[in-house]
Amino acid sequence: MPSTILVGGFFGDEGKGKIIAYLATHDKPDVVARGGVGPNAGHTVEVGSKKYALRMVPSGFVYESARLLIGAGVLVDPRVFKREIASFRLQGRVGVDRRCGIIEEEHIEEDKRDAHLKGKIGSTGSGCGPANAARVFRKSRQAKDVKELEEFLCDVPLELNEALDLGNGVLVEGTQGFGISLLYGTYPFVTSKDTTASQMAADVGIGPTRIDEVVVVFKSFPTRVGEGPFETQMTEEKAAGLHIEEYGTVTRRKRRIGEWDGKMAAYSAMINGATMVALSGVDRLDASCKGVKEYEELSKEVKEFVAKVEHDTRVPVKLISTGPEISEIVDLRG
Ligand code: IMP
Ligand code: MG
Repeated sequence: MPSTILVGGFFGDEGKGKIIAYLATHDKPDVVARGGVGPNAGHTVEVGSKKYALRMVPSGFVYESARLLIGAGVLVDPRVFKREIASFRLQGRVGVDRRCGIIEEEHIEEDKRDAHLKGKIGSTGSGCGPANAARVFRKSRQAKDVKELEEFLCDVPLELNEALDLGNGVLVEGTQGFGISLLYGTYPFVTSKDTTASQMAADVGIGPTRIDEVVVVFKSFPTRVGEGPFETQMTEEKAAGLHIEEYGTVTRRKRRIGEWDGKMAAYSAMINGATMVALSGVDRLDASCKGVKEYEELSKEVKEFVAKVEHDTRVPVKLISTGPEISEIVDLRG
């Protein structure tokens, strides 16, 4: 398996968790490492009738032989982390880089109380913004300073680069989405860090020359939670007419729904250096495509949409997700 980074191309919640879980079970990477901001992320993974919502541990956990790592760039909330370790029985499989920043209670309180962060920006209230600020101020604790994390501590870059030296499969999962990147998103309505593929490489400590594939995930109908501009947002009536209603995994807030944004997709694919696109939610475009696994079985409408996405992004669409369960996918990688 080539070394792969997967990121979100729109405003987050593109279906990254599902695509990662599929890639992990199908391609069987030796290591799955998480980059990204921290527990503000919510990834949903459905395997059979089981549904998991993850905020800290990699969504690739569903492939039971993979080592799971959390990169130094990521903020760790020890409470959320320990809860996930216990509920998904991940003891012994997970490593946390010694240098991860720590989210303290006071960061969460500040994030929830602050009129600018919570009120204006519509933060998730998970403490990430204040914790990253503390990190920049050089006042943050690191994972190595937290007693409860001791048994998980490791050197993520060393593990990953050794895996690459051995020719082992490495999958790096990004979180959030391009539109809420601190650098390239709709500032100030953004998260507290860059969210592009280069940032994910830095988060886990892999140099850019060692990445083979960058998968950018786009959803057919983009969504946005929290405040900020959303050029292709549709009216609630229109979304209801299309039977699209979504709620945030972390905050349970209602997501705003939009139309496909080709211009944004092109720009996002460019900055991410996408080598392939994963397109999710085509079953929303045409319900008859729900659960389809073969390209030939997709409707004309969906095939035309896939062609449009390739035209807009100038990147081949190689994964087409046709439903939330991990087996509901068309894999064109050959
Ligand atoms: P923060 O990252 O919690 O500070 O939130 C800043 C903005 O990013 C808010 O609009 C959040 O709704 C949004 N955001 C942060 N993480 C995610 C995510 O994983 N998915 C979708 N939106 C997110
Ligand atoms: Mg999410």
